[in-house]
Parts: sequence; structure tokens; C-alpha cells
Amino acid sequence: MTFLLNDMQTLSPIGFQPFVAPEIEIVDEGQCDIFARESLLDAAFGPARFDKTAQRLRDGRLPAPGLALAAKAAGALVGTLRLWPVDAGGVQALLLGPLAVAKTCRSRGIGRKLMAEGLFRAFAAGHKAILLVGDAPYYEPFGFARRHTLGLALPGPVDEARFLGLELETGALTNASGLVKAAGAFDFSAHRVETEFLYAA
Ligand SMILES: CC(C)(COP(=O)(O)OP(=O)(O)OC[C@H]1O[C@@H](n2cnc3c(N)ncnc32)[C@H](O)[C@@H]1OP(=O)(O)O)[C@@H](O)C(=O)NCCC(=O)NCCS
Repeated sequence: MTFLLNDMQTLSPIGFQPFVAPEIEIVDEGQCDIFARESLLDAAFGPARFDKTAQRLRDGRLPAPGLALAAKAAGALVGTLRLWPVDAGGVQALLLGPLAVAKTCRSRGIGRKLMAEGLFRAFAAGHKAILLVGDAPYYEPFGFARRHTLGLALPGPVDEARFLGLELETGALTNASGLVKAAGAFDFSAHRVETEFLYAA
């Protein structure tokens, strides 16, 4: 993927306009954001979110450094996006998701703003490819396409049409073949244990 430096001194994917929701700040997620983030994700996806195949690649892992993002309005968390290290059939890549925006704040460009920041940060950190499971009509404008994941399999059932990839470096996923595996650092935080306990009960 090629990025352009535009007059707002921000890199953005060609053909994509991230300068929306100017009142929204995209920042690194902090410890104090975790409760609000989990509440937002519960409201967006419900408890079934823990059953998703993509979750198997996040269980017990930490997001990639610098790639846990929070969208904030006047200090309140209104959106979340994280990206996770994975081994994509021998190719180092990121798994994007979950992406969610508070129901009361949707269709103001916050999702696009989170995506633009996440893609820029991933590119700037030297990552070469990103995978996700999501709705193609939302993610295709960012460059995600099914053709990049044809040689890959996920560790569970998935609607294959929703398994998409993005090459931040041209050809990065050309030889990606086989099972996608978790590759992030392990998460030993108490928060996670608490969350799992709650949902197991
Ligand atoms: C998807 C989501 C993050 C978008 O956040 P957002 O801040 O509303 O996104 P934006 O304002 O940047 O874009 C809104 C546009 O995306 C469209 N859109 C939202 N969800 C979509 C989806 N699943 N598929 C296709 N288009 C979608 C909206 O209709 C809207 O279109 P419009 O601008 O023509 O009205 C938000 O709707 C959400 O949290 N959904 C529930 C969680 C979810 O499904 N996340 C994963 C998406 S696969």
C-alpha cells in the first residue's frame, strides 16, 4: 500500500479521507480505559464475541505494541480498535479487531478515524500485512480484500467471504499459506482473568 503525506501532515491511504470527527481524539488505550472498552464491546457484540474464531487468536495475548487505540470525546471512550500479532502461515502479520464505536456516536467517521490511525501506526511500525474477519463493504475502502487470504486458514469456523487481508508492503501475503496462529506476547493481567471468570460463570 502507498501512503501520501497531505497538507494536514498526516499519512493516509491513497483515496481515503480520514479527516472526519475533528472533535474525536485517537489515543493509546490506557489501563483506565479497559472497563469502558469492555462495556462498549459487550454492547456492540454481546457475550458471543468470546466465541468468535478471531478471538482464539487474541485469547491470553496482548495487542501489538502501540496498536491498542481508544477514540475519545471529551475524555470519554467512544471507540476501540486493537491489532494483534499473528503468524499468517509463516508470514508475520497483524490481526485487526475488534473495531467498535458506541451506538450513540456512530456514522460520524469515528470508525474510519480509528482505522486510519491503526493502519498508519501499523505501517509506521514496519508491519507488512494485516488480516481481519469483518464485513467487506466496510473494510474494502481501506484496501482489504479476500484475494490476500486465499491460502490461509483460521483456527475455527468462519464465513470465508469475511476473511480479508491488506498488504502494507506489496506482495507481503503472496506466500502466506496455512494456519494463522497467535503470535503476540502473553497477557498475564488480572483484568483478563476477571473477565474470563465473569463470562464463565
Ligand atoms: C462498524 C462500526 C465500527 C463503524 O463505526 P462508525 O464510527 O459508525 O463508522 P464511520 O462513521 O466511519 O462509517 C459509517 C458508515 O459505515 C457504514 N457501516 C457501518 N457498519 C457497516 C458494516 N458492518 N458494513 C458496511 N458498512 C457499514 C455505515 O452505514 C455508515 O455509512 P454512511 O456513512 O454511508 O452512513 C460501528 O458501526 C460499530 O461499532 N458496529 C458494531 C460493531 C461491529 O460490527 N464492528 C465490526 C464491523 S465488521
